[in-house]
Amino acid sequence: MAPLLNVIFTFSALCGSTVVSGILRGPRNVRLSSYNMDLVLSWDPPEGAAPNLLYTTGYTTNISLSHPYEDGCVNISALRCDFTDLNIPLSEYGKYTGRVRVQSATEHSDWVESNQITMDMNTIIGPPTVSLMSNGPTIEVSIEDPVFRISALRNAYSFITYNITFWKDGEKEKARSMSNIQQNRVVLSELDLWTKYCVQVQINTNWNITPSELSGPVCESTTSENTPWVAALVTFVVMAVVVIVVAIAVVYRKRMSYILCPNVSLPPHLKEQLMEPPSSFIYLAMLNSKPPEETYHQVSFITDGRPVVEEHPPEAAENSSSRQLDVTVNRGVHEETQIRIVD
Ligand SMILES: *[C@@H]1O[C@H](CO)[C@@H](O)[C@H](O)[C@H]1NC(C)=O
Ligand SMILES: *[C@@H]1O[C@H](CO)[C@@H](O)[C@H](O)[C@H]1NC(C)=O
Repeated sequence: MAPLLNVIFTFSALCGSTVVSGILRGPRNVRLSSYNMDLVLSWDPPEGAAPNLLYTTGYTTNISLSHPYEDGCVNISALRCDFTDLNIPLSEYGKYTGRVRVQSATEHSDWVESNQITMDMNTIIGPPTVSLMSNGPTIEVSIEDPVFRISALRNAYSFITYNITFWKDGEKEKARSMSNIQQNRVVLSELDLWTKYCVQVQINTNWNITPSELSGPVCESTTSENTPWVAALVTFVVMAVVVIVVAIAVVYRKRMSYILCPNVSLPPHLKEQLMEPPSSFIYLAMLNSKPPEETYHQVSFITDGRPVVEEHPPEAAENSSSRQLDVTVNRGVHEETQIRIVD
């Protein structure tokens, strides 16, 4: 009995392990977890263990029943093993269990098994990344999904929604929420002007048992109706257009002046034709015609049977006894008006 105890004590001193009845004690509190679709086994050292123990881990999936456990991290001193780092073909829909044991040169503890997890159901979804842009009395919320270690959020889950919570800075107890949002860009409207609002976003999936972690609050202030950046943008666009027009004018100055004032001489026969006096009959008639003469006649009528017609026609006055008067008023070249007056 004494020599055996001796051996055990010597061994214990050599390896720094705690030995109870010749068996290494196993790690405690072994748990398998997943964050953003990684797969991590972690544990605590055995009770009263010396530092610098080595551990060996393994994992199994419900698929590989014939070879229940595959090697994970081997002979490591860390208290965790990230299976995602090991180039193992993991599935976002897989069910996994891990195990770990204390490893020494000549001995090892029993395996200690972890809980089982189903990746898409149990992975903890990290917070989305949220950015805000204010535009007058509105704030646009842009949501970026967390990056998964294997697969991607929208591959792992067929349906995801965002729950957006927003409040006036300092009044979180009066926060409002918009849930079941499916777009990753949302405009918060009808906000107060010149007010700072804070936003937090959470992701809900159709399959994970818990919503994602909340994004850290991000805040942004609304401004006036006409935001400075809109004015700046308009100014910029106008300036850009002016610069482009000026640049085009400079570059194409020669071509433009050529188009506006061509320095090509006309063919001689065309020039001659253009210089010749016009022979068109109408044109000549227009040139030679005198402006039409306007003739005015003063006509007065008296109804007592003695009409007096002045100037023209002078003879008309002599026939006045006929009580019927024909007056022809010549009004220029083209018009004649006949007035017949019957008493
Ligand atoms: C782990 O350590 C044990 C004991 O020292 C050794 O037998 C084994 O070969 C080591 N394995 C690896 C992969 O280093
Ligand atoms: C959205 O988030 C708020 C704040 O975290 C919470 O009170 C509310 O219950 C959530 N709504 C849904 C549908 O998840």
